[in-house]
Amino acid sequence: MKIFCILGDERVFSSKSTAMFTAVLKRIGIKGAYTPFKVEAGQIGAALQSLRVLNIDGANIAVPYKESVLPHLDILSEGANIIGAVNTIVRNKNVLKGYNTNAIGFMDTLEEIGYNASNKSAIVFGTGGLAKAVVFILNWLRSKNIIVAGRNKDKIQKLVSHIAGEPMLLKSMTSEPISANIIINATSVSSPDESPEMAALINKIELKDCELLIDLNYGRNNNFWKDMADAKGIKFIDGVNTLSNQARRSFALWTKIDVDPMEFRKAVYEVL
Ligand SMILES: NC(=O)c1ccc[n+]([C@@H]2O[C@H](COP(=O)([O-])OP(=O)(O)OC[C@H]3O[C@@H](n4cnc5c(N)ncnc54)[C@H](OP(=O)(O)O)[C@@H]3O)[C@@H](O)[C@H]2O)c1
Repeated sequence: MKIFCILGDERVFSSKSTAMFTAVLKRIGIKGAYTPFKVEAGQIGAALQSLRVLNIDGANIAVPYKESVLPHLDILSEGANIIGAVNTIVRNKNVLKGYNTNAIGFMDTLEEIGYNASNKSAIVFGTGGLAKAVVFILNWLRSKNIIVAGRNKDKIQKLVSHIAGEPMLLKSMTSEPISANIIINATSVSSPDESPEMAALINKIELKDCELLIDLNYGRNNNFWKDMADAKGIKFIDGVNTLSNQARRSFALWTKIDVDPMEFRKAVYEVL
């Protein structure tokens, strides 16, 4: 019997990961369970100790604990250490090792659509855990100019300080056209319901030279990122691809079984 879980705040109950991993465990015939747990602020260390005590085989870490979980882990993978965020934990006896499969999942997405990001300019919206993973991969793939756009100056600065990137405050983006081949949304918002301010701002920004838009959110109605891609006539990829790719990578770390990412994708579409 294999037991996995996802730890986060109250948003953990709306994550599609539970349905996705539950379906995949069943499909490939592994006896097991995947359960969401809400962890109160300040309790992530105690929650990690519970993984040891309860012999949980593996866990996903969701917002807002991807960074604060780091000091409570015994080892970090090289990628998680550089990125400074963890979304997957593997337990081996009492030892908890943290990984970042958001990063490799995003890279898998670029690869599956055949997009070579080397020498391409990019703009990444957002400065949270996922944005860090995306910026790490773009930098690794040798994108030539990475703009990080957000609403918090310190967070933007911290993120671009790891790369030769360009900081940009959201509110300053409407003054002149901005050139970027790839647009990536790594903020939590994609629809006017979630943020009328962001919807209005995106409408006003003039982005040129764009070839591809990846929104890392999924299942949103009235997606203003998709509207932008449609208006520019460029390819739009939503977050289900990266979600299923990173899930496949987490699952392989836990079970050493490489399941086709389409199995994860099918499971997500069943619950969207
Ligand atoms: N597809 C996938 O595989 C995948 C994987 C992980 C996460 N996600 C999704 O990606 C999103 C980001 O995840 P995360 O882990 O990076 O979360 P996070 O650490 O909480 O970061 C959220 C980011 O969104 C920004 N933001 C939130 N509301 C905003 C608004 N109204 N206007 C402008 N910016 C806003 C935040 O800015 P401030 O810092 O200024 O608040 C922050 O930069 C979430 O919606 C999550 O569900 C998708």
